[in-house]
Order: sequence, then C-alpha cells, then structure tokens
Amino acid sequence: MQSTRVGNPVSWYDLIAEQVDCDTSSEAYRADPNRFTEALRERSGPVHRTPSGVLLLLGHAECAEVLRDPRFGHGAATARDITGYGVPARSFLLTDPPEHDRQRGTVSGAFTARATARLTPSVEGYVRDLVEAAWQRREVDVVADLARPLAASVLRDVLGLPPGGEDHFGDMAELLVRGMDPRESGDPAVRDRIAGARTDFVRTFSRLLRRPPEDRGPSVIGGLARAAARQDDPVRLSEAVATCGQLIAAGYETTVGLIANGLHTLLTHPEESRVLDAGRDDADVIATAVEELLRYEPPVPIAVRTALTDARVGGTAVPAGTIITLLLNAANRDPLVHARPHRLDLRRGARHLAFGLGSHFCLGAPLARLEAQLMLRALWRGRPELAEEHVTYTVGLVARRVERLRVRLTRCPTS
Ligand code: HEM
Repeated sequence: MQSTRVGNPVSWYDLIAEQVDCDTSSEAYRADPNRFTEALRERSGPVHRTPSGVLLLLGHAECAEVLRDPRFGHGAATARDITGYGVPARSFLLTDPPEHDRQRGTVSGAFTARATARLTPSVEGYVRDLVEAAWQRREVDVVADLARPLAASVLRDVLGLPPGGEDHFGDMAELLVRGMDPRESGDPAVRDRIAGARTDFVRTFSRLLRRPPEDRGPSVIGGLARAAARQDDPVRLSEAVATCGQLIAAGYETTVGLIANGLHTLLTHPEESRVLDAGRDDADVIATAVEELLRYEPPVPIAVRTALTDARVGGTAVPAGTIITLLLNAANRDPLVHARPHRLDLRRGARHLAFGLGSHFCLGAPLARLEAQLMLRALWRGRPELAEEHVTYTVGLVARRVERLRVRLTRCPTS
C-alpha cells in the first residue's frame, strides 16, 4: 500500500482501488463506480477506515459534516511556482481560511447571481448557434461539438479574454485539466503537450494580467490585474495567474461533464425522461431535472480534506493529520437522504453534494447550472437519439465524464 498524502493524488487511485476491490482505471469502475462504492457501504457503513489510516466517507451527513467544519481543511498542501516569478502560489481550492477567503474574495464578484444573470443573453446566444450548427449536421458529438465550445466561450467571457482564439483556448484548457491527473503523465507525448499548454497559459495570462484588455464588464482578469497593480507585488501577480489557472481547471471539464453525462443519463432513461417532454419549455422543470442529474452522475465524484486537529466524524475519532477522502458520488446516493437512491427521478428536487459545501462551495455553480439548463433544454427540443450505444468514461477520479457522446437530432431544435 502506498502512503497517502495530500498533494500526491495518484495514491487516491490505489487507495480507493484497494478498498472497493477493483482497479479504478478499469472500464467496469469507470462505467459505474457506484456499484463498487455501494458494496463498500454495505460492508463498512458510511465511514470506512483503510489499513493505512485514511478515512473514506460514503454518507451524506458525514461528508457534509467534514465539508462544513473548519477543523478539516488542506493544511500544508504544496504550493507550486507555476508562473516563473519565483514565487510559489497556491490556488484557493487548496487553501484554508482566512487566506482562502481573501483569495476567493478577489474573484467572487464575477460569479454572483447578478454577474451570472448579466451573462445569460450571451450564453443563450452561444447555445442557439451551437444547436443550429448541430441541426445542420444532424449527427454530432455532444462533448466536442457542443459542450466544450460552450464551456470555453463562457469561461473566456467570465475571465475577460479578448475575442478570438476560442479553439486554441479550449485545447489549452483541456490539457491543463489533463495535467492535474497523475495518470496522464505516463505517456511522454501527452506529457509534452501538457507542458506546452502550461507554458502557453502562464505566458498568455501573465501578459494579460500586466496589461489587461479593456474591461467589457466586471471580469476576473480586470479585477485581479487592478488588485495586483495596486500592490505592485510579484506574489500577487503569481497568485493571480494561479487563480486564473484554477478557474479554468475547475470550470471547464466539469461543465462539459454535466452536459454530457446529463444528456447520456436522459437518453438511457427514456421512461423517466418523459418528464422533460411535457416540461420542455418550463424553466423550473429543467432546473429541477439538472439537480437530479448532478446527484445521479456527479462530474466531480471526490473531494479530499485533512483533519487539522483531533476531531470526530460520524462518531469516529479522527486524529490530527488524517487524510479524509469524501466519495461525493456515494453521498449523493445515501439511502438515509434519498428514497430509492439508484432511481433517476427528475422531479425529486435533489439535495446533493455535487458542488461541495461550506467555505469551498463551488464558486461557478450558478454558471454551470445556467449553461447546463440552457443547453439541455435546447437539445431536448431537437428530440435527440443516441447514435452510438456504447460510451466510455474518462479515467480521472476527480473529474468524471463520458468521453464522447454521439447523438442524432431528429427535429429542428430552434423551430
Ligand atoms: C457542473 C460543473 C461543476 C461541478 C460539478 C463543480 C464541482 C465543484 C466542487 C465539488 C467543488 C468543491 C471542491 C472541494 O470542496 O474540495 C468546486 C469548487 C470550485 N469550483 Fe466548481 N464545479 C463546476 C463548475 C465550475 C465552474 C463553471 C467554475 C468557474 C468558472 C468553478 C469554479 C470552482 C472554484 C473556483 C472552486 C473552489 C472554491 C473554493 O475553494 O472556495 N466550478 N467545484
């Protein structure tokens, strides 16, 4: 058994693999991790201690307890000098309060309900253009042709990037996300492409943050650049680049995952999906359905914390320094919270942990919800059918989505 430390996520794979008795990169686990985590819940209950002392949490109450409680955090997770300023910067996803709150505060203005509402017309426009182009072709890959271009365009707008270069940005974002997954570094060709994307990212964003484009609204880059310039501080610039990298890493593949996993779930549950036929034009019906899709196939099925002090979780003593892996997918199917948890029920009004909880609650949740609701609503109007029955899921444990999803539109989605 490998030792398990925060900052060494490759060991999560081994750790979970050992406990669920299945290779987590196998197609069986990738296709349905819930089958394995359910078997573990039956054996161990909601809190499982591994032989190396790591806690795996499978219950909704236990995961929520850890996410909300400041005695669990990230501690001394490693900071990396990603910018070349010679200053290590840690994104706030891996930082504890009060430092976390300061850093989150520098960008939170771009993610408020008001800021998201301001983006709605442009998101509607992107969705309309993409589904119109899909209708011209009749058959498309939802990942490559719809979800990725949408997520990339919206992310560019939120960051405040100048127009142009959308495809290049999408490729760079994808490689940055792949670079976070330790399994990707095995292949030298992929490793080189990831290294190239990182260099490209740091160069582009360092330049933009030093000389931001004219602000077309309250953008992330504009806000960070103003704050850094006021302090004229390389630490702040380094941190600003790290923050942009984090937003790309946290907001791109996850949103693609929600749209692609969501549509795949709908198409493979035709009985349950009838709810959408009746409520196709009802925003509340779609919004409730998207929450159930987040519960059922969460794009981020795992979160990790360290006990910063001696504590207890679900009645179990947890010594300081214990690594805690929260299996959000299992929490989302906790029978104590959800009646018939393995049943897709688009009217359920799901209480889920797909966006986390507490101080690290997903900053981009309103944006991801908006994108998924508008895209799934538009696609459902096109009466989509699966053009390829068999799908495979990505290897990543931290972000999980269908690799490609070929569908055929049978009706004009915009008529
Ligand atoms: C369906 C899409 C998404 C899912 C499922 C998702 C999921 C999550 C989860 C589970 C966390 C908490 C991680 C933890 O507690 O360890 C998180 C945090 C975060 N997410 Fe998302 N996310 C999505 C979309 C987005 C988008 C679109 C953005 C931004 C453009 C974004 C930005 C962030 C940031 C910045 C954090 C860290 C917040 C903090 O540490 O205070 N996410 N996300």
